[in-house]
Parts: sequence; C-alpha cells; structure tokens
Amino acid sequence: MVDIETEFLFNSWYVAGWSSDFQHALKPLTILNEQVVIFRTDKGIPVALEDACPHRKLPLSHGRLHADRVECGYHGLTFDCSGSCVHAPTQQDAPPNVRVKSYPLVDRYGLLWIWMGAPDAAEPNEIYHIENFDNPSWGKTPGGSMDIACHYLYITDNLLDPSHVAWVHVSSFAGAGTEDVPLNIDRLKDGILVSRWMQDREPPPYYAPMLSFTGNCDRKQHYECRVPSIAINKSIFTPKGQGGGRYRSTRQQFCEYFIQFYDAG
Ligand code: FES
Ligand SMILES: [Fe+2]
Repeated sequence: MVDIETEFLFNSWYVAGWSSDFQHALKPLTILNEQVVIFRTDKGIPVALEDACPHRKLPLSHGRLHADRVECGYHGLTFDCSGSCVHAPTQQDAPPNVRVKSYPLVDRYGLLWIWMGAPDAAEPNEIYHIENFDNPSWGKTPGGSMDIACHYLYITDNLLDPSHVAWVHVSSFAGAGTEDVPLNIDRLKDGILVSRWMQDREPPPYYAPMLSFTGNCDRKQHYECRVPSIAINKSIFTPKGQGGGRYRSTRQQFCEYFIQFYDAG
C-alpha cells in the first residue's frame, strides 16, 4: 500500500516556480522532500543541484555563486552545473567522483519545470502542453501563487470538484445549474476529468458581461487533473442549443493551475 503522506511520483515534470523567481542567486527549495538549490548562471541558464555538500553536508545554498559554479561556504569545494566537484582548495586536483545530484530543468511557458527522477528518463516533450499559449488571439493573465498549508492531494481534490461551486462561489461561478446537474467522471490515460454540461440556463451575472451573445446559454464545467500536479479548469459557454454534443468551439474561459510540492506535510 502506498503511504500518500510520503510517496511521490519521481519520474515526472514538476513546476519548481515561475521562471522569474530564479535569478543569478542561490535559491533553496524543498521539492518532494528533497533539498534542492536552484540558480541561473551568469548567462541565464537555470541549474538545479542537490542542496548538500558531500563533504560535511553544508547546504550549497549557504555558499557563493561564481558565474556558473557554486563554492561551498564551509571549506570551499566548488561544483559545476553538472554537479561535479571541479575544485578542492587544499588539493591540486579536484577529487574524482565527488559530486552532487543535478536535476534536469526546462524553462517553458514562463515556468521552470524540474525532473526529480532518473535524469536519463527526462523527456522535455512530455511536459504538459498548454494549448494556444502563443496564439495572439488568446489572452493571458499573469499568474500569482498561493502557499497552502495542506497535503497537495487536498488541492487536487478541490480542483476536481465542481460540486462545491454552487455553495462556495455564490457571487461568481455559481448558478446556471451548478447546484443540481449530475457530473460525469472520465478516467484519462494520465489523469481524470470531471465535467458536466448545463443546458438552456441563464448566464450567471459574473459571466454574462464576458459573453459574446445574449440570452440563455449552454455551459460546461470541465475540471481536469493530470498526474502528478496539474489542474485544468475550463468554463465553456455557447448560446443555448449549441452545447453538449453539438459543441464545436466558441468562447472559452480557461485556467490552469500548476501545483507545486514543497513538502509532504
Ligand atoms: S562542507 Fe562543503 S567543503 Fe566542507
Ligand atoms: Fe472553488
């Protein structure tokens, strides 16, 4: 049996943070219960290393960053971007086989993605694809972030749960049948989708000004989670009679959540 308090999927891409969170400075993070230090080199290339010097375990984030190398703040062992020790102050040659773990990183969609598992298995093409990210006819709202003091599965639970909308989001997403229309649940290859069409309903006051039509609507709530930590919420509105199986495409409101794991607590 898997203990959900401690077990994580390691061979997966995770969001380490916004790309702009990482500069030419040593930033310590705990991801999947591992101590990691992330920085950009003097050329802007992101690097993630294990945050523990192999000599006496001082976190490398307590040391100094020189161009593309990290110097330990205890006795000066120095590591390159691959995690290899390249300088030991009291020795002529760097000790062979002394290294820290190095984690694959990809800068994409304004996010820094980290691979915490076996480095050879990291395939950047498997990073979750954000449709229309570069399509100029779509808008983008700059994101923020929230720290939430709970196990991450409570957040995925919430983001897969349209049934709370009528009771919690009374002045915004509620209405149009959210209180009583049954939900469909579909198991996906790498996730789960909870959704429902609510047909021939009055648009909720919150959404009505955003719609490109008047009168009643068909509305879809699409709540999807992809393993391990990506949630996609779509709100789809069509003029009444054009939703459900007849839906092709029309105006959508669409947001994605990237859930970041700092620890298992
Ligand atoms: S603990 Fe890092 S060099 Fe000694
Ligand atoms: Fe909610």
